Amino acid sequence: IYPDAQTASVAVAQRIAKLIRNKQANGSKAVLGLATGATPVAVYKELVRMHREEGLSFQHVITFNLDEYFPMQNDAEQSYVTFMHQNLFDHIDIPAQNIHIPDGTLRKEDVAAFCINYEKQIEDAGGLDLQILGIGRTGHIGFNEPGSAPNSGTRLVTLDDLTRSDASRDFGGKENVPTKAITMGIGTIFKAREIVLMAWSAKKAPIVKKAVEGEISGEVPATYLQLSDNVEFVLDADAASELT
Ligand code: F6R
Repeated sequence: IYPDAQTASVAVAQRIAKLIRNKQANGSKAVLGLATGATPVAVYKELVRMHREEGLSFQHVITFNLDEYFPMQNDAEQSYVTFMHQNLFDHIDIPAQNIHIPDGTLRKEDVAAFCINYEKQIEDAGGLDLQILGIGRTGHIGFNEPGSAPNSGTRLVTLDDLTRSDASRDFGGKENVPTKAITMGIGTIFKAREIVLMAWSAKKAPIVKKAVEGEISGEVPATYLQLSDNVEFVLDADAASELT
């Protein structure tokens, strides 16, 4: 628990930078699982600063994003492709071929094969070294909404009504928010060697309490993280305010 989101975000960025540098020193690549949304923005900002001012290189970094709306055009303002380029990729030296984001432009009949291949690409890269997560008010991680199975893989899912309400501002109305998304599964996330879930502000306090102290259940998918030895919740004081 950190006093504020900025301090916490800098600490997470430092952790990522250390992983990247350690891997580079061993001649291997860091494989990062990345999230979008408001939560990781300051982490990405700090990584960009480290790239510019401290020579942190992403030449040997491979990234896999958690999710993308479906359907979604890559160049749409709300796409997670646009988000990642604006917040991180356009400002660092990561090779384009090292970036992986679920494809919102696929024909529906091609999604299943894409998802199987996404899992294979993660495996072929050596597995995720570090997965960054936010948490939705439904308890989703990635877009694994209530009802998700603990062993779920990358797949097409239906977004929860609350998730679509929370996204409505970005889309100029809930009716414009896609009803579906492609997301890594709970099982995919669990295979990461380290998992860091971040949450900021009092708005997240009730769901953080459920995730950390509630009964493990598919009703709150983030509770599955209680079963992992490799997970850390990084919170600001407000998000942690309901913990006992
Ligand atoms: C984003 C993602 C989601 C968000 C969650 C919180 O890639 O997978 O699980 O992390 O919806 O969103 P924010 O950070 O906007 O509160």
